[in-house]
Amino acid sequence: MNKEQAEKRIEKLKKEISYHRYLYHVLDKIEISDAALDSLKNELDKLEKKFPDLITADSPTQRVGGKPLDKFRKVRHSAPMMSLFDAFSRDDMIDWEKRMEKNLTPRPPFPTSPLTPLLNRRGGGERSETGERLDYYCELKLDGLAIALIYEKGNFTQGATRGNGLVGEGVTQNVKTIEAIPLSLRLPSEKELAKIGLNVDQIKKLQQAINGGNLEVRGEAIMPDKVFDNLNKKYKKQGKRLLANSRNGAAGSIRQLNPRLAAERKLDYYVYDLMSDFGLERQEQRMELVKLLGFKVVKHNKYCKNLEEVFKFHGHWEKHRDKLDFQCDGVAVKVNKLALWSRLGVVGKGPRYMMAYKFVAEQATTKVKDVVWQVGRTGTLTPIAVLDSVNVGGAAISHATLHNVDEIQRLALKINDTVIIERAGDVIPKVIRVLPKLRDGTEKNIKTPHVCPMCGGKVVRVSGEVAYRCVNKNCYAVNLRRLIHWASKGALDIEGLGPKIIEQLVKEQLVSDISDFYSLEAGDLKPLERFADKSAKNLIKAIADKKEIDLVRFIFGLGIRHVGEESAMLLSKKLEVRSQKISDLVDEFQKITIEVLEEMQDVGPIVAKSIFDWFHDNRNLKLLNKLERNGVVIRQQTTDNRQQSLAGKTFVLTGALDSLTRDEAKRKIRELGGNVSSAVSKKTDFVVAGADPGSKYDKAKKLGVKIVDEDEFLKITT
Ligand code: IVH
Repeated sequence: MNKEQAEKRIEKLKKEISYHRYLYHVLDKIEISDAALDSLKNELDKLEKKFPDLITADSPTQRVGGKPLDKFRKVRHSAPMMSLFDAFSRDDMIDWEKRMEKNLTPRPPFPTSPLTPLLNRRGGGERSETGERLDYYCELKLDGLAIALIYEKGNFTQGATRGNGLVGEGVTQNVKTIEAIPLSLRLPSEKELAKIGLNVDQIKKLQQAINGGNLEVRGEAIMPDKVFDNLNKKYKKQGKRLLANSRNGAAGSIRQLNPRLAAERKLDYYVYDLMSDFGLERQEQRMELVKLLGFKVVKHNKYCKNLEEVFKFHGHWEKHRDKLDFQCDGVAVKVNKLALWSRLGVVGKGPRYMMAYKFVAEQATTKVKDVVWQVGRTGTLTPIAVLDSVNVGGAAISHATLHNVDEIQRLALKINDTVIIERAGDVIPKVIRVLPKLRDGTEKNIKTPHVCPMCGGKVVRVSGEVAYRCVNKNCYAVNLRRLIHWASKGALDIEGLGPKIIEQLVKEQLVSDISDFYSLEAGDLKPLERFADKSAKNLIKAIADKKEIDLVRFIFGLGIRHVGEESAMLLSKKLEVRSQKISDLVDEFQKITIEVLEEMQDVGPIVAKSIFDWFHDNRNLKLLNKLERNGVVIRQQTTDNRQQSLAGKTFVLTGALDSLTRDEAKRKIRELGGNVSSAVSKKTDFVVAGADPGSKYDKAKKLGVKIVDEDEFLKITT
C-alpha cells in the first residue's frame, strides 16, 4: 500500500473506530465486538507505524476516554481512573518486563570524565539497581464496567463509573442493588490482619479509615453469563431487542435510571484495586485485605514468581475460560511489589506497572478477496469466502463459509468488502458482518454460478430449498465427497483412508465408487506416491477389516441426502434385518412406503422422499449389488446383552464433555442400543451434563429426569 492509499484507509478506519468507540463508551451501545474493534485498531496502528507522519492528534490510537453522559450527577475521581495497556503475545510481555527493568535502573550521572560511563556500566540482562526481581500478581481481566466505590466512616456512600477517567457518573443507587457490594465495611480482627502481614501501625491506620475516614476500592461490575442468557431468553419471548453481550448488559443496568429495574438484573462485582494506602507491600496482600473488608475478589487470581508462571496462568485460562461463569478477555498482570509502582509511574493512558495480557481474539476483520463454490457430496454448492489471511483465535484463517446464497444476500456481501469473521472452537470460521462504510468503490457483486464449477454440469435451485445444486450424477466433486464420506469416522471409519489418498485413488482411476475400495490390491497401491510395501498392505487390511459393516454405519455411509447418523439409527431399528446380505436389506427398504417412513420419529416428508427415492434409483441399486459382489456384508444385530445395555434408553446431551466430543458420545450411546434426542421431555431417561450445561439441564431438573455427569456417563458406556 502506498502512502496515498494508506492515508485514505487511515481516514476511513479512524472514522469507523471513533464511531464504534462513541457507541461503546458514551451511549453503551455496541454494533461490533471488542475483538473486531481491536482488529480495526490494530490495522490502524500498523499503518500509522508504517507512516508515522500520518498520525494526527484526533486518532483513536492517541485517545484516552469518552465523554461522560449527563443524565447522572457528575463525580470527580479521587485519582484518575486509567486504562491498562494491552499485550497480545509472550514477546510483548517480555518487552514490557525489559522496559520496566530499564526504567528501574537509575540513569548514570552526566559523564564528567571519560571514565564515568565505564564506572556506571553493569553486566547484561541486569535487574534494577537494588537487584529486585520482578514478580507478579495475575488477575483475570473481567469484561464489565469499571466502578469506583467510596466508603465514608465504613459506610458505602458513592459508586461512580469511569466516565472520561477524571469525571464519571454517580450511579450510587444502582450500585447499591448489587448484592456482592457490602453496604458497610466488614471490620477485620487484628488477628486476621496480622495474619496477612499488617503491622501495628498499618492496622491502626486501617481502623481509622474504617471508623472515621474514607476508603476507596475499584473493581468491575459484571453480568454473569447465566443472568445474561436468562435475560436474553426473556427479551426474546417479549420480542425486545437482545443484549449484544454481557458487558453491554452490565453497563445498561448500571446506567438504568430506575434502580428497581437495575436490581432485577443481578449484577456481580469484583474488586481489583484498593486506592487507600495503608503502607502494604504487595498487591497480593492488598487483595487479601480487600477480601477481609467484605468484597469479592476473583478466586482464581494468583501470585506468579516470574513471567514463565504468568504464561502458564494465561495459557490455562485462555484454554479454560469457557469454564468461568463470566466473560473474561485476558489477564491483568500487575507488578506485585507496590513500592515499584510509584517508581515506575504512569505513561499516557495507563500505569507502566500493569499490563492487560489479552486472550487471542476469536473475531477479526479482514477483506474478502473472492468467493468460490464448493461442491458437497449431495451436489450442494456452498459459497466460500477467500480472505486476506488473518489470525483468529491463534490460527491463520484464509477461508470462511458463507453457508448459502441467502446468507450472501442477508450480509449484502460484495467481493473486496471488509468483513468481521468469527471462529468458535474448531468449527469452520464464518463471515458474520460486512462493514460497508469501509468500501472504496472497488467492490464487486457476487455471481451465483449457472454451471457446476467442478464438472460444468447444470446447477438448479430446488424449490423450497435455499441451496443450489449440481444435478450431474457423474460430477467429479460430488463423487469424490461421497467416497470420502464412506471412509470417514462417523461412517465406516477406515483407518488410513483419508481425503488425500481417496483423491489420489480417483485420479489414478483405481476407484470410482465405494464398491471399488473392496477390489483394491496392495499391488495397485504400491506404485503410487505416499505408498510403500507396508503402508499399501496396511490400507488393504484396514479396508478388508470393514467388510462386515454395522447397519447404522452402512446406512449413514451411503450418503443419502438428509440422512444423518440419527436417522440412520432410526431406520436400522425400523428394518427387520435377519440376514447379512445387502440384497435382503434392499428388499426390506423397498417394502417400506413413504407413509411408513414419514411416521417415524423426526422423519418429515422431505427426508422420507429422499430415502424412498434413493432405494428406487437404479444407479444406487447397481452400486449396492456391486458392493455385495465385492464381499461387503451387514453385521448381524447382536443379541449380546452387554453390547445392548442401553437398549430403549433415551439420552440428551448438554454442555461440553472433557474426554470426548459430542459425536463420539452419541456414537457410544447408539452402539449400546440407546437413542439420542435433542430435546428433554418426560420420556428422556438421562441428561448427560458437561461443562456449562444449557437450558436442557434446567428442564431436566424441573421434570425430574436423571442427570449424569461425565464420569457417570463413562461408567455406563464402557
Ligand atoms: S486494573 C489502570 N484489574 O479493564 C487501570 N482492571 O483498561 C487499573 N479490568 O477499565 C485497572 N479486570 O475496568 C484491572 N483485574 C483487573 C481488571 C481490570 C477488568 C478492566 C478495568 C479497566 C480495564 C483496563
